[in-house]
Amino acid sequence: MKISVIGAGYVGLTTAACLAQLDHDVLCSESDLDKLAKLQNGVLPIFEPHLEQVVRLTMASGKLRFGSTIEAIEHGQTIFICVGTPPLPNGDADLSAIEGVARAIAKRASGYKLVVEKSTVPVQTGAQLKKYLAVLGANGLDYDIASNPEFLREGTAVEDFLHPDRIVVGVESPRAERLLREIYEPIVKQSFTCPVHSDCARAKDPVFLVTDISSAELIKHASNSLLAMKISFINMVANLCEVVGADVTKVAQGMGLDPRIGPAFLNPGIGFGGFCLPKDVQAFIRIAEKSGCDFSLLKEVEKINQQRVEHFVEKLRKELWVVRGKRIAVWGLAFKPNTDDIRFSPAIAVVKALLHEGATIRAYDPEAMAKTKAIIPEITYCSDAYHAAEGAEAIILLTEWEEFRQIDWSRLAALVDRPLMIDARNALSAQDLASCGFYYIGVGGITAVPQMAKPVISTLVTAQHGEVAVG
Ligand code: UGA
Repeated sequence: MKISVIGAGYVGLTTAACLAQLDHDVLCSESDLDKLAKLQNGVLPIFEPHLEQVVRLTMASGKLRFGSTIEAIEHGQTIFICVGTPPLPNGDADLSAIEGVARAIAKRASGYKLVVEKSTVPVQTGAQLKKYLAVLGANGLDYDIASNPEFLREGTAVEDFLHPDRIVVGVESPRAERLLREIYEPIVKQSFTCPVHSDCARAKDPVFLVTDISSAELIKHASNSLLAMKISFINMVANLCEVVGADVTKVAQGMGLDPRIGPAFLNPGIGFGGFCLPKDVQAFIRIAEKSGCDFSLLKEVEKINQQRVEHFVEKLRKELWVVRGKRIAVWGLAFKPNTDDIRFSPAIAVVKALLHEGATIRAYDPEAMAKTKAIIPEITYCSDAYHAAEGAEAIILLTEWEEFRQIDWSRLAALVDRPLMIDARNALSAQDLASCGFYYIGVGGITAVPQMAKPVISTLVTAQHGEVAVG
């Protein structure tokens, strides 16, 4: 099927490459000309596991091409709009890019087009889009509008797109539903050749859920807001655990065993970041407000999230006493592992707060250093986790990359000035670290002291509750 994807960000690029992998004939457009030129040469502007491989494969087979917006509007019978909807200062989603695409479609498209919103948009954007096209599209354009929210996560985007739990389509006509069913049939039947898993035939079949457009739009914002709520909830439980001496990992495990709750998204930390959850919660609050509903529950979710960075920095202050002049190793800068994305990364917020207090930062992240350097040039960027730890008075783990779990703790202990690990993600084993001489402080009451603790530091650490007894 001839498909166009407008916008080559995380969602657009993944959508385009994966639809091409399903054997559709895809043209993906990008308005940033530098980025477009790179994409046309098979160079990706982002790090996303497996995506480069799928882009290269599908470009080589001629199924995926990159071009201008005008070319995209002319090419596809179905046009997926995947442009950015960043937050405005008041929290509303900025829909100007969507409006720009609608205007271009109204001016340039002819024949029949199925226009699909895939960008995350406020409820009733579909209705606006339809009105807009009707007013502008006086050239006899025949079209349908549909909403097809995307639920992929950065870091696992290709897998999420090809093996989703559900595909949600909001439609107003049988024709739009039929086209979308046809496009997604290989995914629904899991009948395509998977570039990631050789055994993908075993993947569960996704549900294809057909709704009206407004419901599909709401499903996206409501899902992201509920995920954010789970995170803020467990973060508050973690605070409580720290005070009463309980272990949040056990609490989360016990809660998650109830299938009505589930274990996912119950990892406490330094708050949810990235370009989706924070802006979507904000936008959902605004959508509710404008509709006359006071969704104050979500305001609390946001407030709790905003307190996470300060809560973490305060923990570090308690250990270091004076932060000014202290050498701190930072492990992880991306907002989550397996991405180089630092937008709204809580790790970046921690680094900025520590710089403000006069700390000396030595940072390492497997993928996100180039992007961080562009906005924070004044810290030392290191070649690996060991290099960052040299002479450090504290190591802080801010993003739970897998490679941090593979560290040789004895080797690390010999490099640091003071063996203190503050793990903002509960990613490491308190026992492993403590048995190699580290003081370990996690989130939600998980702490450990080394077997041979030096008294001056142990008094600081033993003040914490929920201490793990080692040795
Ligand atoms: C999120 C949703 O999970 C996707 O379903 C959605 O499609 C996407 O937003 C989007 O709207 O485009 P993403 O932003 O890639 O995906 O990342 P998540 O895996 O949701 O993580 C978001 C943040 O929450 C990260 O900072 C992560 O570290 C944090 N998090 C996540 C926690 O602190 N604890 C958890 O238990 C889970």
